[in-house]
Amino acid sequence: MTDVLDINVSKITASKLKHLRQEDLPFGKYFTDHMLEADFENGEWRNIEIKPYQPLLIEPSNSALHYGQAIFEGIKAFRNHDGEAYIFRPYENFIRFNLSAQRMCMPEVSEELFIEGMRRLIEIDKEWIPLKNDHSLYIRPLMFATDSALGVKPSETYKFLIMLSPVGPFHAVPMKIAVEEHYTRAAPGGVGFSKNAGNYGGSMLPAMLARKQGYDQVLWTDAFEHKWLQEVGMMNIGFIINGVFITPDLGDTILNGVTRSSVITILQDIGIKTEERRISIDEVVEAYNKGTLNEVFGMGTAAVISLIKELKYKNTVMHFDTSNFTTALKVKHKLNEIRHGLIKDKYGWMFKI
Ligand code: COI
Repeated sequence: MTDVLDINVSKITASKLKHLRQEDLPFGKYFTDHMLEADFENGEWRNIEIKPYQPLLIEPSNSALHYGQAIFEGIKAFRNHDGEAYIFRPYENFIRFNLSAQRMCMPEVSEELFIEGMRRLIEIDKEWIPLKNDHSLYIRPLMFATDSALGVKPSETYKFLIMLSPVGPFHAVPMKIAVEEHYTRAAPGGVGFSKNAGNYGGSMLPAMLARKQGYDQVLWTDAFEHKWLQEVGMMNIGFIINGVFITPDLGDTILNGVTRSSVITILQDIGIKTEERRISIDEVVEAYNKGTLNEVFGMGTAAVISLIKELKYKNTVMHFDTSNFTTALKVKHKLNEIRHGLIKDKYGWMFKI
């Protein structure tokens, strides 16, 4: 990557950081002093700016609002105790962002704009990266259409933004998940593998209905039989059955999670057998009844490793004592140690700012 990015930087006069209560950082509520903004016009990205975090001006006819050309990413940055700042595996998100862009008929961004833009922005707002364990700076790149027109066609203009949000733990306590039997998140040939805004919009009603039944989120199943497990929408899902880690294999209905892939690497390294394959809810219930279902957990950038204490499918309610989830806790610990610079980054995952 060459450092050719021409960024116009304008800084705030007084930082808001002193008003931030580090002990209370709900996910995505507070934003740092600056953001990055760029415009796609006449076939190229231009007007690249780092400027004070501020509202955007868009017209009511903005085509992203009407037709949904909007994609995003979720990445995290950490600071170690020497004050050095690192981003966790940003190239994986860069590649995935452009895959989402292709699927949604949007322009790709260059490595310079995505990675170098992010690096420069974080360098400016580095003091905002929380130091506490389980805390980080959540990085949200976003692209959306900006044509002001109601014709149903790909926009000719777009905006790319990067915003930063200091965050604490996403799921502080183990979760209760309901297996979805009616609604569908993604079908083959659709957009399930991409990180487009509509995937999340479509999940809100089923999630809200599950919440009314006392569940935190739903575990999506396939569109035809509602039997093959997919993901939880905000995280991938993994099971330890008989000591073997099993997670649904990727296809075009599941997000290729960066945390998912990191977990697989760490598990293989510590000698746990891993399988990426089709897994049905029937197999999970059977393992539970036989006593061989050892652990269930979610994996995601925001979620990190989220332990699941209850999984409901039809009339079967599976309960787990998450204090026995030794594998999930071990992998979470290792991931945290790498990200906070407490052990050697032998996988080369940490990108220095
Ligand atoms: C992430 O883990 O970064 C996500 O995108 C999940 C979510 C909070 C939308």
